[in-house]
Amino acid sequence: MKICFLGCGNIAQAIINGLLQSGILSSDIACIERNEQRVESLKMQNLKIIELESLASMDFDLIMLAVKPKDALSAEQSISKLAPKANTLSLVAGIGIEKYSRPNAIVRAMPNTACAFRKGVTALYAEDQNSSAFKTANNLFSKVGHVLALQNEDEMHRFTSIIGSGQAFLFKVLNIYLQELEKIAITNEAAAKSMFQDFISSLSDSFSQEQNFESLINKIKSPGGTTQAGLESLEKNNLDKILQDAFQAAEDRSIEISNEQ
Ligand SMILES: NC(=O)c1ccc[n+]([C@@H]2O[C@H](COP(=O)([O-])OP(=O)(O)OC[C@H]3O[C@@H](n4cnc5c(N)ncnc54)[C@H](OP(=O)(O)O)[C@@H]3O)[C@@H](O)[C@H]2O)c1
Repeated sequence: MKICFLGCGNIAQAIINGLLQSGILSSDIACIERNEQRVESLKMQNLKIIELESLASMDFDLIMLAVKPKDALSAEQSISKLAPKANTLSLVAGIGIEKYSRPNAIVRAMPNTACAFRKGVTALYAEDQNSSAFKTANNLFSKVGHVLALQNEDEMHRFTSIIGSGQAFLFKVLNIYLQELEKIAITNEAAAKSMFQDFISSLSDSFSQEQNFESLINKIKSPGGTTQAGLESLEKNNLDKILQDAFQAAEDRSIEISNEQ
């Protein structure tokens, strides 16, 4: 599978890391990148750096558009002009496929940075989900984690808020835990970080043993105990609403971005 990234920043780099771990060769990945610092780090990974104009003469199974929303439409027009038959995939948040110059040739993908560890969760949408482009995209993202094919493009906004932005919300919550732990483990910050790493990964181990958060909570909680006291405080302070509001704010912003283009 030969692929090209137009824009090789955070998300492209996460996908590339996962693909390399999955056995894809660096020689099969080409990058078009204008940021000199990033170009240097891509070269260190033995990735091919090519010019935008090379799209006219090179064949790729998929060209991945991975630039910020403000750069997306002009970049897609360039792809369309230089390689009118290419399968193009957009990683850009908030821009619907009808905004691009060739909507029926675009696959939209919304991955998260966990692709770097091959534990990504990627939503895919295209008008034609039987197309070779969609199948190639499905195959590619399956190499770096899980794929969820959406039936309706509008669902991309909610997905972005939960799995994309939502990953950062959990980081924010976990950072509060870490800061509290560091207050106690004040003399050994490194040990606190290492303990915390196991603490986080044990959450995933627990969930893989029993995929029900209520029963996991019940194994920790005893009537009238410390856990119950803390949980009641969370409930009183409306934790559910705080998180639902954050999901809603991210979803609303995603819709706003799509209307700004
Ligand atoms: N980060 C995430 O977790 C994530 C998850 C899902 C989707 N996305 C989407 O993925 C897209 C990229 O996000 P990101 O966080 O990876 O952004 P980023 O780190 O800023 O990477 C984009 C890179 O593309 C370069 N670029 C822009 N236009 C270019 C052009 N015409 N030719 C060559 N290089 C160009 C940028 O250079 P400059 O620095 O010079 O602008 C930058 O190095 C966004 O649209 C975002 O919505 C991101």
